[in-house]
Amino acid sequence: MAIHYTQKVMEYFKNPKNVGVIENPDAEATEGSPACGDMITMQLKVDSKTQKITDIKFKSYGCASNIATASIITELAKGKTLEYAKKLNWDSAAKELGGLPPVKMHCSVLAVNTLLLAIKDYEIKHGLLKEEKKDLTQQAVIDELQHVMNPEIGVNIFRLKMVKEISLGDGNVKITISMGNTDAMYADNIAEEVEEHISALKSVKSVEVKIID
Ligand code: FES
Repeated sequence: MAIHYTQKVMEYFKNPKNVGVIENPDAEATEGSPACGDMITMQLKVDSKTQKITDIKFKSYGCASNIATASIITELAKGKTLEYAKKLNWDSAAKELGGLPPVKMHCSVLAVNTLLLAIKDYEIKHGLLKEEKKDLTQQAVIDELQHVMNPEIGVNIFRLKMVKEISLGDGNVKITISMGNTDAMYADNIAEEVEEHISALKSVKSVEVKIID
């Protein structure tokens, strides 16, 4: 079935605004969609005195709906305070774009949630918000692994079935990742990301990532 986008969505998809990478960002977040496995990263520069977003950039492996929403939401947030940006939602972004097909709403939600998580990252790093750690459970580990992207493909490693074994071992977590067809040059990067995500869970004493072919 063909998907029909508005002219505005197509304009933003073809000429997205604020795409790229910020050197030394003050905050960032990478989110993946459980629905489609696509990933998006947002980075922020924030003026600590005024709490205004002075720069914002995103990189997306998502579809037209995701890229157009990320583009418009970054335009709406740039130059505004964190408090203002926190009130932006996917509904208003979709309205700005002249509407989105219902089947593509989750792509828009993904873009907006990533912005909100980047803001949360800033607030945690600057002591404005206390980080709530999630308990160490099998599901919590899986949730975290769904946020680790295979950089070659732009899909999370759990969805790609690269996670072969998870053992929680009384806080000593062991995870086995199979590289399969993915270039071995990405192994360190994936292992680092996995370690970072799992270490963020409560009661984790150690994280061992075993990479296999
Ligand atoms: Fe994945 Fe749109 S289908 S972000």
